[in-house]
Amino acid sequence: MKTRQLIMLAGLFLILGCKKAPEQLPVVDPLAFGGELDGKKVELFTLKNEQGMVVQITNFGGRVVDLWVPDREGRFTDVVLGYSTLDGYLNSNEIYYGTLVGRYGNRIGNARFTLNDSVYTLAANDGINHLHGGVKGYNDVVWDAVQSDEKTVLLSYLSPDGEEGYPGNLQVNVTYELTPDNELKIEYRATTDKPTPVNLTHHSYFNLKGAGEGDINDHVLYINAPFYTPVDGGLIPTGEIAPVDGTPFDFRTPMAIGARVNDDNEQLKYGQGYDHNWVLTTPSGPGLTLAARVVEPSTGRTMEVFTNEPAIQFYGGNFLNGKDTGKNGKVYNHRGALCLETQHFPDSPNHLEFPSVILEPGQEYYSICIYKFGVE
Ligand code: BGC
Repeated sequence: MKTRQLIMLAGLFLILGCKKAPEQLPVVDPLAFGGELDGKKVELFTLKNEQGMVVQITNFGGRVVDLWVPDREGRFTDVVLGYSTLDGYLNSNEIYYGTLVGRYGNRIGNARFTLNDSVYTLAANDGINHLHGGVKGYNDVVWDAVQSDEKTVLLSYLSPDGEEGYPGNLQVNVTYELTPDNELKIEYRATTDKPTPVNLTHHSYFNLKGAGEGDINDHVLYINAPFYTPVDGGLIPTGEIAPVDGTPFDFRTPMAIGARVNDDNEQLKYGQGYDHNWVLTTPSGPGLTLAARVVEPSTGRTMEVFTNEPAIQFYGGNFLNGKDTGKNGKVYNHRGALCLETQHFPDSPNHLEFPSVILEPGQEYYSICIYKFGVE
């Protein structure tokens, strides 16, 4: 080989070497992560796609532990808050980093509801209210897990009759899949042996600049919703379905999250910022709704959220307070991340005018949420 060809070949290797292959990303070490909890093995599963995206998922709470996404220069960063060890999660102030949420995502007022003339009392874990499935929700249990291929992990959990006050044995199956199109696809299925409310969701805290890299006030958000459900001081819907027109809740034109978050607005005071349920415009035919889109201007990263659910909770990380230090020693400060939780409306079991959340024996619950990453 001539010297010139050799130099060119060396150059090519150098260029290829600079672009980090997925296996070189500093992902969490699965061997250092696990442990045993409730007599079950806690594991960490690594999913990869052909575009270099990596997501790691643990069966403890079905959590997304890290999620590596490219920016407009092709540089990969971990965009979700979390910990590199099981102990980190067990000692955290915030208990919902990256979790699956159930049996009922969001709040149920007075931790109580009536169904078929029976009153059910749930665990109250948010003042007098019930939040995210109670004291020991699905975020806090060890799921059975099988990684079926490089891109898919299947999680299942049998939620027993009476757990946290809910009626019926609920068999829950969740699939996490990383698709070739840079989507993290979450599909939820459930069956029951007694009528019961079900509202499953996912609670990753996203910061598209990178986990622990400042706040999300400069992320630009679009929400495909002409209405939202105003709340009382305990963040329980009043029952009103209010237009977003002329309010800081109108994200139909993309807007920086921080632009209006400190406006003098009663609803923003109740949530200490954004922590509300938006009522989506759903397609008239089949197909999923583009519920929301987030753009991070400095890195160009974008995230779109698709779902078959009628609503989405946008929570702006108002209760993060710098008390948690996560992966790589990064501190998780006030509004350092956002959650976009596809769902039915909060407190639906107490609002018969809201879309029903009751699953009957013989029916199958099915919900889908896709977080699709891109750049612009
Ligand atoms: C809720 C917040 C709550 C947070 C807990 C969010 O889904 O909307 O009100 O504080 O979860 O992590």
